[in-house]
Amino acid sequence: MLTIFLSVLVLSSTHQIKKARDNVRKFPDEFIFGAATASYQIEGAWDEDGKSENIWDRLTHADPCSITDCSNGDIADDSYHLYKRDVEMMRELGLDFYRFSLSWSRILPTSFPDKINEAGVQYYNNLIDEMLKYNIEPMVTLYHWDLPQKLQDMGGWTNPYIVDWFADYARVAFEMFGDRVKYWITMNEPREICYQGYGANTKAPRLNIKGTAEYMCAKNLLMAHAKAYHIYNEEYRFSQGGIIGITLSANWYYSETEADIEAAEEAVQFEWGQYANPIFSEKGDFPPVMKEKIAAKSAAQGFARSRLPEFTPEEVEYVRGSADFFGINHYSSYIVYRNESMATYHEVPSYYDDLNAVIYQSSEWEHGASDFLKVVPEGFYKLLTDIKQKYNNPPIYITENGYSTYGGLVDDDRIAYYRKYMDAMLDAIDEGCDIRGYAAWSLLDNFEWMEGYLERFGLYEVDYESPERTRTPRKSAFVYKQIVRTRELDWHYEPDTDVMTIDEGY
Ligand SMILES: *[C@@H]1O[C@H](CO)[C@@H](O)[C@H](O)[C@H]1NC(C)=O
Repeated sequence: MLTIFLSVLVLSSTHQIKKARDNVRKFPDEFIFGAATASYQIEGAWDEDGKSENIWDRLTHADPCSITDCSNGDIADDSYHLYKRDVEMMRELGLDFYRFSLSWSRILPTSFPDKINEAGVQYYNNLIDEMLKYNIEPMVTLYHWDLPQKLQDMGGWTNPYIVDWFADYARVAFEMFGDRVKYWITMNEPREICYQGYGANTKAPRLNIKGTAEYMCAKNLLMAHAKAYHIYNEEYRFSQGGIIGITLSANWYYSETEADIEAAEEAVQFEWGQYANPIFSEKGDFPPVMKEKIAAKSAAQGFARSRLPEFTPEEVEYVRGSADFFGINHYSSYIVYRNESMATYHEVPSYYDDLNAVIYQSSEWEHGASDFLKVVPEGFYKLLTDIKQKYNNPPIYITENGYSTYGGLVDDDRIAYYRKYMDAMLDAIDEGCDIRGYAAWSLLDNFEWMEGYLERFGLYEVDYESPERTRTPRKSAFVYKQIVRTRELDWHYEPDTDVMTIDEGY
């Protein structure tokens, strides 16, 4: 036995590391584990107890079959009524924290703070208190895509007054919940809000006003984020003692060939540098490459000024440094190329014409139910180390990562995805990346936006045929529970999936 042990030790050190990885890897001591959801995707009760209409209510009611299965979030997981079961699931998993979002139109039915909806506030108080009873830390997203419809009617994120509207709403949230909530996220995925909602038609409000609306949205959203940050920083941080950041969707972009390296880096700058650079870089502001390219194209196209709004020097300073942490939602990677065919490839003007490159995924990459969800764990590692290098190693929380299927309790593909991506994250931690926590998307199946209930991301399966919206743990729930319990990634762990229990006292 001893001889075997010694002979293993003299093998090359790289081989030693590889072997260790194939077995068990430890997470850092202070690392926290959670799971994430969003209000519109789980709550239901869309018009109950005084809640008013938001842009997803409007879209799904006015144009039901814009959603793949013609469904909506009217009932969704009914978490508005079943929140105790949700907390019970968090306890079954042994989560350290739970990330959820507040519904603006549930708390402020007029969109403004002139009328605070007691019942809406009570719902979130009940959820938070139920979690804290079991030492589960709330991580609260203020805005996860469900803008009050009235504000959309006034231009939504293209109206600069939204900076004040959002700030007023944020202040109400800090006031109501900040005594117990110590992790705040202002916005979830600005790119999806602005590009998909305003520059394309793949999320509400589906404006599809290309080359202008998405940039107006971006500037206003960053200013609104910064204003909420400064309010927290100046009025609440001292008494409440929490932290506040923002969550960006950040994918990785590979260059197709060596000739495309510049195009791939520019794709990074457009796709998430657009939001990261103003907040996390040393100089702030939109990335220089975006400013130059969009200004040049705008001039050539006959616009009176750049389609990308400018930040004044004061605004650059206002936004720069306005986050205590960098929240990352990461799912997959892409490939980028640029050649002569670009000239006719994209609509003019448009965001992708401004970037002047094509972004796609390899059909050879393995993928989940969501077509975009190609399994490329190395891209996660590259992303995390790139963020460390570009922005002076900011504290990071992985606020979403996960995998879709079409349902079923035995989800070995999801388990493999989680293990591969956590392994890549541990590689980044070994490289010195300051990653402090990880939230699986999602605690339970939910309304997956334009894909309705077809694509399932849950650790728990939800039965949408049952009035009780019965939740059942998938095999991945048992595996995640073991990771959280042991603080270790063990590739060979096979769970006994007979019965899910709550383990007290860890
Ligand atoms: C541009 O690159 C793409 C992807 O490699 C290729 O399919 C296309 O034929 C190229 N077009 C030109 C004009 O070089």
